[in-house]
Amino acid sequence: MEYTVSVMNRFFAPALLCLLILGCARPSDKPVYLDHSKPLEERVEDALSRMTLEEKVALTHAQSKFSSAGVPRLGIPELWHTDGPHGIRPEVLWDEWDQAGWTNDSCTAFPALVNLAATWDRDLSHLYGECIGAEARYRKKDILLGPGINMGRTPLNGRTFEYMGEDPYLAGELVVPYVQGVQDNGVAACVKHFAVNNQEVRRTATSSNLDDRTLYEIYLPAFRKAVQEGGTWAIMGSYNLYNGQFNCHNKKLLCDILKGEWGFDGVVISDWGGCRDDDEAITNGLDIEMGTWTNGLRGAASDSYANYHLANPYLERLRDGRATEEVLDDKARRILRTVFRTSMSPEQHFGSFTSPEHFAAARKIAADGIVLLKNDGTLPLNPADGARILVVGENAYKMMVVGGGSSNLKTKYEIIPLDALHEAFDDKASVVWERGYVGDVTTDYNKVVTGQDLSESRSAQQLLSDAVAAAKDADYVIYMGGLNKSRNQDNEGTDRLDIVLPYGQDVLIEALAEVSDKLVVVNISGSPVAMPWASKVNAIVQAWYGGSESGHALVDVLTGAVNPSGKLPFTMPLALADGPLKTERQYPGIQEEGKQWWQEYYDEGVFIGYRWYDTQNIPVQYPFGHGLSYTTFDLSNASVKPSGKGWTVSATLENTGDVPGAEVVQLYIADTEASVPRPVKELKGFEKIYLQPGEKRQVKFNIGLEDLSFFDAASHAWVAEPGEFKALLGTSSADIRAEIPFNYGK
Ligand code: BGC
Repeated sequence: MEYTVSVMNRFFAPALLCLLILGCARPSDKPVYLDHSKPLEERVEDALSRMTLEEKVALTHAQSKFSSAGVPRLGIPELWHTDGPHGIRPEVLWDEWDQAGWTNDSCTAFPALVNLAATWDRDLSHLYGECIGAEARYRKKDILLGPGINMGRTPLNGRTFEYMGEDPYLAGELVVPYVQGVQDNGVAACVKHFAVNNQEVRRTATSSNLDDRTLYEIYLPAFRKAVQEGGTWAIMGSYNLYNGQFNCHNKKLLCDILKGEWGFDGVVISDWGGCRDDDEAITNGLDIEMGTWTNGLRGAASDSYANYHLANPYLERLRDGRATEEVLDDKARRILRTVFRTSMSPEQHFGSFTSPEHFAAARKIAADGIVLLKNDGTLPLNPADGARILVVGENAYKMMVVGGGSSNLKTKYEIIPLDALHEAFDDKASVVWERGYVGDVTTDYNKVVTGQDLSESRSAQQLLSDAVAAAKDADYVIYMGGLNKSRNQDNEGTDRLDIVLPYGQDVLIEALAEVSDKLVVVNISGSPVAMPWASKVNAIVQAWYGGSESGHALVDVLTGAVNPSGKLPFTMPLALADGPLKTERQYPGIQEEGKQWWQEYYDEGVFIGYRWYDTQNIPVQYPFGHGLSYTTFDLSNASVKPSGKGWTVSATLENTGDVPGAEVVQLYIADTEASVPRPVKELKGFEKIYLQPGEKRQVKFNIGLEDLSFFDAASHAWVAEPGEFKALLGTSSADIRAEIPFNYGK
C-alpha cells in the first residue's frame, strides 16, 4: 500500500500537476461551447454566459468590409461574409469593395440565378448550392450572401438576373435545395433581399406600400419556404422601406413575421449600408449591421466601425438603460448559433475550389436553363462540310462574368460563345465573326479585369453594313446580342429604361433577316426583352449569363449535344406598356407632401407577371413557363382524384419524338368561384421529366387546401372557399393541355 502511494506520488501526481499546469484540461473541464458533442443550444448558452456586455455588442456589427467580430478571448472566430449568389467574390481590401489582387482566389463562376430558375430543376438547384457552398467553405467563408429571390414585379428591375423569376412557387421550390446544398458544407446561406425589394431605382429611399394579401401571396412565400423548408441560417434585410419603415429594421417583417410567425432562429444581417437608425436597429430584429460606412480604417472618427448604429450608440443605450440586455442576448445567441453551425460546427468541412466537377456542374446548369423560344427546324445546327457560319453580335465575344454589381466575379476562365463555336465547327465549317454594333466596351469592375480589348474604330453604320454584307453569302447567320451588365441594363444600382433592345439591335436583326434565310437569334440577357422581329427569324434562343462555361453551354444547345429543356421563369411581354405597372405611383414611385421618402404603391395587387397578362387576356411574345425541345411530348390521361385531405392530379407524359429530352409538366390551379379577384391560374406544381424516345412516365402532384387558398387580410389567415376549382396541366402558362374541374366542399 505504502509502495503504491509513493509510486502515485512520485509519478502520477507530478504528471497530473504537469497536465494541469500545461492547461491540458480533462474532458469534463472543457467548456461546453467548445465541446462539439454538446447540443447547439447548450453551447450557445455556455458561450453567452462567459461574455461581457462589450463582447456581445462587438458581435453585432462589422469589423471590416466583409467580416463581423467573434470573441477573441474565448477563441470564438469572427464571421466571414461573401458575395454572392453566382460564385465566391474575390478577396477584397479590408475596407474596400475593390479586389485585393490575390492570385489564388479566381473562382468557378456559376450561371446567374435567373439561369438556374430557367432549369425548373430542383436537383440542379441542389447541385448549384452544394458546389458554391464548397467553394465558399474552401475560401473560409461562413456566410454566403445569396441566393436572391425577390419577385419579378417589373421587367425593368436591374437585378432580375440575380433572382429566380416572377412566380413565388417556382422561386420557393428552387431556393430550398439551393440553401440546403450550401449549408451541407457548413456555410450559411443568406437569403436576400427581405422583402418587397423589386427595383433598383432609388432603392435606399423608396417605401414599398402594399396590402397584406399581396405581401403574403406574392412577396413572402419564397422567403417562407427558404426559412421553414430550407432551414436557412441567415436572411439579409433589404435597402428599401416597407410601409414606411426601413427593412433592415422593419418590425413587422423581421419581428412579427420572420422571427414570430415563421420561427426563424438564425441571424438577420443588414444589406451593406441598409441600417439607418440607432433605436430601430436595436429593437426591430436586426442582428448584424454591415457596410454602414465603407472606410472604417481611414481615420475619421465618424467613419469608424465603433460608430456603427449597433456599436457605441448601442453600448450607450445599454449602459443608461434605454436598451435591455435581453434583446442584446437574443442577437448574440443568433450570432453564436451561426458560428457553431459554420466554422465551429461539429462536422469539419474543407470544401473544394475550381474543381473539374464544379465547372461541369456550371456547364450543365447553364445549358439546362437555356430556353428555345422558337424553332422552324433550323436548330440544332447541322452545317454541311465547308459551310460558312457567320456570327454577328457583341455578346458572342464579350465576357460577362465581370460586372453587374456585388455579383461581380473573378473567375479562373470564361468560355465565350465565339470560341465555343470555333471549337465545335472549325474542322468542318468556317466560323467568322462580325461585331454588328458596339454596346459596352468596359472590361473591368472593382479592379477585376477581363483582359479583353473591346475598342472599335468603325462607325455604327459601317458595323451594320459589314455585318449585312457578310450575311449575304453565309449559310447560317447566328446573331448573339441582347443586354450586358452596364448601367441601365442587367446591373445592380440602376434599372433598365425600357425592354427594347439597346444599341440599335432591332434594326440590325431586321436587316439580317432580309438577307438570310437561316437566321438564329440568341438573346443573352438576364431579363425580358421585346422581340418585334420574332416572326422574321428562323429560331430564337434565350440564353443567360452562364458563368465560366457559358460559351460551351450555349453551343451544346445550338448543336443538339444538349436537348434544350429550359423554361422561361418570367413572361416575355410584347411591350413594356402591356404590363401591370401603369402609373408613377406604382413605379418608380412618387414624392408626397410631408413624407421624407419616395412612396410606391403596389396597386396591381397580386397581379404581376402571368397573373396579370393571363387574367387580362393580354397577348405576350412568349409566356411564362414556355420553352421548346428538339423532341416532342404528349400529355395524356389527366385526372384529379381525392386523396387524404386533398387531391392527386396525375397525367402521362410521353416523348413522341426521336431524341431523348426533358419536359416540365406544370400544374396551375384556377379558382372559378372566388369571392375576391384572383388570377385565372397560379402555378402550384411542376416536375421536370427526362424521357427516351417512346418512353412514357406518369407524373403526380399532391395538392391540398393551401394550394386552393388566398390570403385573407381581415382574418390574417389562408382561406380555401368551397366551390369549383380547375386543375390545369400544361407545358407553359399558355399551353394548357388538360383542364379538369373538381369541387371542394360542395
Ligand atoms: C447588395 C447585396 C450584397 C452586398 C454586399 C449590397 O449592395 O445589395 O446584395 O450582398 O452589397 O456586397
